Amino acid sequence: MIVQSPTVPESQPLIEVRHLKVHFPVNRSLTGRPRAWVKAVDDISFSIRKGETFSLVGESGCGKSTTGYALLGMLKPTAGELYFEGRPLESDDEEGRRVVRRQMQIVFQDPFASLNPKMCIGESIAEPLRAAGTPQEKIPGRVADLLDMVGLHRSYADRLPNQFSGGQRQRIVIARALAMQPKLIVCDEPVSALDVSIRSQILNLLLKLQQELGISYLFISHDLSVVRHLSDRVAVMYLGHIVELAETTELFDYTVHPYTQALFSAIPRIDPDQKGKRRLILQGDLPSPLNPPTGCPLCTRCPHRLPVCETALPPMEEIRPGHMVACFRASEFCHPSART
Ligand SMILES: Nc1ncnc2c1ncn2[C@@H]1O[C@H](COP(=O)(O)OP(=O)(O)OP(=O)(O)O)[C@@H](O)[C@H]1O
Ligand SMILES: [Mg+2]
Repeated sequence: MIVQSPTVPESQPLIEVRHLKVHFPVNRSLTGRPRAWVKAVDDISFSIRKGETFSLVGESGCGKSTTGYALLGMLKPTAGELYFEGRPLESDDEEGRRVVRRQMQIVFQDPFASLNPKMCIGESIAEPLRAAGTPQEKIPGRVADLLDMVGLHRSYADRLPNQFSGGQRQRIVIARALAMQPKLIVCDEPVSALDVSIRSQILNLLLKLQQELGISYLFISHDLSVVRHLSDRVAVMYLGHIVELAETTELFDYTVHPYTQALFSAIPRIDPDQKGKRRLILQGDLPSPLNPPTGCPLCTRCPHRLPVCETALPPMEEIRPGHMVACFRASEFCHPSART
């Protein structure tokens, strides 16, 4: 059983991302000059509110992790602006970045790879505390409190990572992320490497911590039923672009973009109300991000494309309150007659 996410009131965003681009140089010549660029993230804008779970969904390779890493300063953006609590985050302002970096943490998919196998878990949790200058005498107590918070016994601090189950190891990684009292945690597929039976325990832990501590999550997942259950808002990515963004219920009940429709068509439906809904299958394969289509990124696969889709990039437009879509035919797909 997964507990419900708290409702989040409208507030000043914790993070604001404006026109973010992350392009990777590839295929360098002998002189070191790149011959091509992978446009992993190509001009995306969104904000994350305080205490909110904001999810990124989309096919493998669409740029979800790259977006998270750019937010955390683990990758240098090619272009765009990032704001943390209204203050600009300049990538060359090392000191400012370091201070904000502590307030933003990440939980990866594989907890075993995130922990040093030779270091007892108490030491792993203490590492960021030491780095932040916590006095030595306060560290054992703080480590014990963090273990409590994630539902592990304090006496486990002396054990090595291989003495824990996968779910327990992810709890340890979460405890370490909490050590810096972060305001944002990027959760990059945090439960996909775990046994199905313990996934909901970890998701419940994340929700409990959010309720207690008011943390925001950037939640990245392929599991749309988890995203639906956990998120306040969802952005759908395709080939480095955000194609649709809305409150979770709005997005799932009122899907507009053909790509989102195709993505959601893959969810098995047991709800009788949903059974008659139109399913959409995309044509062809995902284009290479080295050579993306000009115009709308979906134009090579979209059954509804118009000539304009092949030449111009559709702008993000608000089609209902808080519901943004980048599609030239969005207003048509919004119409009740198109929603059979
Ligand atoms: N360091 C890099 N150099 C070159 N290309 C990269 C690099 N990192 C990522 N990419 C490419 O950028 C694109 C986006 O990658 P990213 O890891 O962000 O995707 P993702 O949506 O997280 O995928 P997944 O769901 O599989 O984790 C992919 O085409 C990937 O191959
Ligand atoms: Mg990824």
